Amino acid sequence: MKTLISDKYIKDDKSKAIYDRAVDVITGGVSRNTIYRAPHPFYVASAKGSYITDIDGTERLDFANNMASLIHGHSHPTIINAVTEQLHNGSAYTMATEAEVRFAELLTSRSPGFEKVRFVNSGTEAVMTMIKASRAYTGKYKIAKAEGSYHGTYDFAEVSQTANPSNWGDIDKPNSVPVAQGTPLNVLNDVIIFPYNDIERTIKLLDDNADDIACVLIDPVPHRVGLFPATEEFVKALYNWTRKNNVILAYDEVVSYRVNFSGAQCSYSVKPDLTALGKIIGGGFPIGALAGKSEIMEVLDPRGTFLKHPHSGTFSANPISTTAGRVAMEMFDEKAVLDLNSLAMKARTQIEEVIKIADVPMCITGAGSMFKLHFQEKAPNTYRAAYQNKETKEIIDELLDYMFLKENIIMINTVACMLSTTLTQNNIDQLSDALLRGLKLVKPKIDRLV
Ligand SMILES: Cc1ncc(COP(=O)(O)O)c(C=O)c1O
Repeated sequence: MKTLISDKYIKDDKSKAIYDRAVDVITGGVSRNTIYRAPHPFYVASAKGSYITDIDGTERLDFANNMASLIHGHSHPTIINAVTEQLHNGSAYTMATEAEVRFAELLTSRSPGFEKVRFVNSGTEAVMTMIKASRAYTGKYKIAKAEGSYHGTYDFAEVSQTANPSNWGDIDKPNSVPVAQGTPLNVLNDVIIFPYNDIERTIKLLDDNADDIACVLIDPVPHRVGLFPATEEFVKALYNWTRKNNVILAYDEVVSYRVNFSGAQCSYSVKPDLTALGKIIGGGFPIGALAGKSEIMEVLDPRGTFLKHPHSGTFSANPISTTAGRVAMEMFDEKAVLDLNSLAMKARTQIEEVIKIADVPMCITGAGSMFKLHFQEKAPNTYRAAYQNKETKEIIDELLDYMFLKENIIMINTVACMLSTTLTQNNIDQLSDALLRGLKLVKPKIDRLV
């Protein structure tokens, strides 16, 4: 049996005792696979700023920020105050609230292409609503998305998210690979998979299906593809193609919205028709949003004579999420965005130095306040180039276990960091010093990879 690095560091603890109870009542003991770790997840007692303390009293420095959703770290006092005030007035009603309107006003004033907004409860739901709105508007039913990109768990959006060399097929016509067993064949047939940033192949694949495609879905900085930005040329080619073919250009900015004040979309000369948002816009609470052109968003308008896409949701636009989100985004103003991006740039420079000192064939990619380490010398620019095989994944697990259990530093399980405004230069120094020790530890294994 494989020896886990955790065996060296974990003693029987309170988290193990809770996990033993959890597996009796929750499948696998967790409701979210992301937080599972062998031999058991750790249970949180409290969190403040950039630190999380588990129920055994171990404090860890957090660079994951609940998978990129906490732009101001944990328990920010301004958000606590605003949410507490709202809680005294109720948390959800079968009536409207001004909280929703105030937040929509803020978002529409923030990004030029956001003429109208609709709130939902998660990024998955925002992407799903974006796809369904695109179908309703165009009268077409297929979608096109990039190989490897993660857009949540809607059947159509998740196709080929985990494609691997055994099933991804020819790069000229990538296979539509299911994530969940039992995905209907019709779903797979209705999703066209293209290679990210590869203009020639992508346009050819789109041309072959032009009459049926409702939307081209992209994340401008796709984390799971490899966390590198789309090129200006690629985005422009998609934009021009969608204009010619009556197709919606649909951006998933659930993660990448943090990259610039108005989203990663403002880094490009052309703009999407629709954008799905989530994560940081909830201020630490569950949220999603669809934003974009009024003319397209009209398919959701209940005042229409023919409602093309009826849309609701019991907790959509609840005043807790919309209040927390508004306050968080007010604080994430232009200066805060620039300051955080510059801290991330410093971190990237320091980690590049660490890679040199540790003498490991690695590199780092990213954008804005996000970055990711790769176990290869040359920065990847495609999903297939960034793909990590089983041996690499084992090294990653060992490095992340070391960081979490020995250095008390939390990173995202793809060896990525998504910063929050509560992090400091001192925290970045802690991260790079710990990474140096961690990379030295796994260096013999990395060297064997090449
Ligand atoms: C780019 C992207 N889109 C959509 C989602 C789905 O968001 P949620 O987990 O809120 O459903 C995620 C979640 O990680 C994401 O990273």
